[in-house]
Amino acid sequence: MDSILVKGNGALSGAIPIAGAKNACLTLMPATLLSDEPLTLTNAPRLSDIATMTQLLQSLGAEVASLQDGLVLALSSHSITNQKADYDIVRKMRASILVLGPMLARYGHAVVSLPGGCAIGARPVDLHLKALEAMGAELDLRDGYVHAKAPGGRLKGAVVEFPFVSVGATENALMAATLAKGTSVLKNAAREPEIVDLARCLRKMGARIEGEGTGEIVIEGTDRLHGATHPVVTDRIELGTYMLVPAICGGEVECLGGTLDLVGAFAEKLDAAGVSVTQTNRGLKVARKNGRVQAVNVTTEPFPGFPTDLQAQMMALLCTAEGTSVLEEKIFENRFMHAPELMRMGARIDVHGGTATVTGVDRLKGAPVMATDLRASVSLILAGLAAEGETLVSRVYHLDRGYERVEEKLRACGAQIERVSA
Ligand code: EPZ
Repeated sequence: MDSILVKGNGALSGAIPIAGAKNACLTLMPATLLSDEPLTLTNAPRLSDIATMTQLLQSLGAEVASLQDGLVLALSSHSITNQKADYDIVRKMRASILVLGPMLARYGHAVVSLPGGCAIGARPVDLHLKALEAMGAELDLRDGYVHAKAPGGRLKGAVVEFPFVSVGATENALMAATLAKGTSVLKNAAREPEIVDLARCLRKMGARIEGEGTGEIVIEGTDRLHGATHPVVTDRIELGTYMLVPAICGGEVECLGGTLDLVGAFAEKLDAAGVSVTQTNRGLKVARKNGRVQAVNVTTEPFPGFPTDLQAQMMALLCTAEGTSVLEEKIFENRFMHAPELMRMGARIDVHGGTATVTGVDRLKGAPVMATDLRASVSLILAGLAAEGETLVSRVYHLDRGYERVEEKLRACGAQIERVSA
């Protein structure tokens, strides 16, 4: 099991290219199931989660070719032979549930393993299932699988009102509705850029969709969708993560491909903490305004609010800020597992339920720490970049799920970082 060794090395400056969004690619790939014509995705990120989704789609009989060093994915599902998504793949990645809607919409039946929980929470899929039932699906939950059927082989358009915002449930419902008979309206839909990207790709495939990016999406079902080529949107979470490098270490970093619309609330929070974010024609240039970062309070919310996927990384910054910050995690029930690891590095954090109170210290101290989930892993690397001495982050397989070539990207800015095999 690999670890990453980081040595605090003062201010870091340089340019970091931002990849395509993992969480967009993971919903764009299953969209191939909606059509018998080829779907080509460009600007794809090179991540282990993408390899897992590739494996899952291939297990269903889809063809997925990874071209140009993984930057291009050529998908085709003209010969789906199997409508069952097995537990042994689904348990590795919860986004596997996103094959359910498309498969049910195209074939009229699907069997998909329930994903089970993960480190950050129980993460049920009840909203996904309720949305598909509203479209006429008959669901039978047994032996850990969802056995889904569309009476008469086709879903029907419906009004789906989500009790609270769910990214995945919105994505499953949106994909299913494109082939349903009639009109569907998704109310209280998620507004994340990944949803907008999916809608744009589906529209290229012939879907009739309006309102993506607002809380209400209207879909006019069609009989079939055709192939398309679509670039994966820039990864706003990778972008926000690397924006924190100059914030926590000092120096100036330009995040290539970054745009302010992807990280509005996050950039505002950085500004309030004393970090400037400037849009250039290449991306987002980030640097401290003057001296030490100041404490700020953070509450995670669905887009366009502060992203839960940047909460762990922001906490690392606030561990070294002047003053006391309060972070409220409103999306997941157990997303502070990075806190005890940061405390091993000298951070002062008080966690009560969904609230973490962070009192900044002058400097963290390097220490051996353990990654517990994807975003916690990179939070520890950020802390290690700024800490005095060496930090060894273990279980970095979490990191490889969502960040490509981290060492390379950070070394280009002067970081002392290397991967060590245990
Ligand atoms: C997506 O997960 C992302 N994953 C997550 O990113 C992200 O943290 C999350 O959205 C919120 O932005 C992908 O896109 C692959 P939700 P998702 O449905 O769709 C509860 C990362 O680090 N809920 O918006 O699973 C759920 O438990 C990952 O890249 C239900 O109760 O998130 C959570 O508390 C982590 N029932 C809240 O809603 C449901 O049917 C929001 O979940 C669905 C969700």
